[in-house]
Amino acid sequence: MKARILSIETSCDETSVAILAASKTAIRLAHHETATQIPIHQRYGGVVPEVAARTHVAEVVSLLERAGAFAKRPPFDAIAVTRGPGLATALRVGIDAARTIAAVTDVPIIGVNHLEGHLASVWLVPENRKNWKFPLLTLLVSGGHTEIVLMKDFGKYQVLGRTRDDAAGEAFDKTAKLMGLGYPGGPMIAQLAVDGDPNAISFPRPMLNDGSFDFSFSGLKSAVRREWELLPDAKKKDSQVIADFCASIQQAITDVLVAKMLAAAKKSKPVMVSIAGGVSANVHLQQRLAQAFAEKFPSVRMLLPAKGLHTDNAAMIAAAGYWQLRNGKKSNWKTLDSQPELDL
Ligand code: KG4
Ligand code: ZN
Repeated sequence: MKARILSIETSCDETSVAILAASKTAIRLAHHETATQIPIHQRYGGVVPEVAARTHVAEVVSLLERAGAFAKRPPFDAIAVTRGPGLATALRVGIDAARTIAAVTDVPIIGVNHLEGHLASVWLVPENRKNWKFPLLTLLVSGGHTEIVLMKDFGKYQVLGRTRDDAAGEAFDKTAKLMGLGYPGGPMIAQLAVDGDPNAISFPRPMLNDGSFDFSFSGLKSAVRREWELLPDAKKKDSQVIADFCASIQQAITDVLVAKMLAAAKKSKPVMVSIAGGVSANVHLQQRLAQAFAEKFPSVRMLLPAKGLHTDNAAMIAAAGYWQLRNGKKSNWKTLDSQPELDL
């Protein structure tokens, strides 16, 4: 199916606009621009919803303008917008922009689940698309979510397990914050972990062998706080000590994610696996998962999102919007509303 989709993502701390040109034979990202708010939220040590929403308002108009969205003959024939999950006031900015454009241009609007967007980020890689097969088991790891999702078809998803408290990204962010490493913690911990010993500190691996596909990361955060507070101040500035902490935190998180994915694969027998969401940018996690699957399920191919499409972006929202459009699903601009708690 041929379509040019304008997409808008404003669920958290990235304002992003894309245009995806899709046909039966080719998918091309004609335009993609993301304005990150990370430097703004760094001042507060985390995302401040009100600040995020206000910044989206300022950014989304200029991003849309640069995408040609206000041209007399707009270069798209559908609009995809993230409707949830995410911050209520932040989501509203993108949705209201999309609804206004839909009303003025009379093109169909598609409300997209942000989590389905992350699943679709993997499909944007041409090589992945060529080999795409279901069932596909995805580890969806972001700042707000940690889920093991069995994709049975486009639009047909079964959540096999999820976190009962913090998400994996949150575990990175919160432990980094209490060590004074800044926001976002994931990339920071990953970078510092390179010189550290992953076995230096034995942090808990909750629910590792409980037979479920669920996760719990809040205990890890408490354990890191306890260990960190035991350190004398001089040690807290010692680069080897910091590196060892980071490597041990990353190892504990990765161990659980990999073990649960192997268990889920044993049960659901996928033909492919993928990882998506901000934490999938973690090279250590990518390598460990690839290695584990190569050993235990050598016939299962592992797919990754394109570089730069791990964290939030509008390209993945356009891709998920295209999946819906192909399945004949559209929304109504008059009634489309944000769903901050939406799940898959
Ligand atoms: O998908 P995303 O941009 O936003 C949500 O939908 O939540 O994910 C952001 C999360 C943050 O928690 C950030 O610390 C984490 O992804 N992250 C990483 C890495 N890069 C980003 N975590 C571990 N290692 C990384 N390299
Ligand atoms: Zn996300």
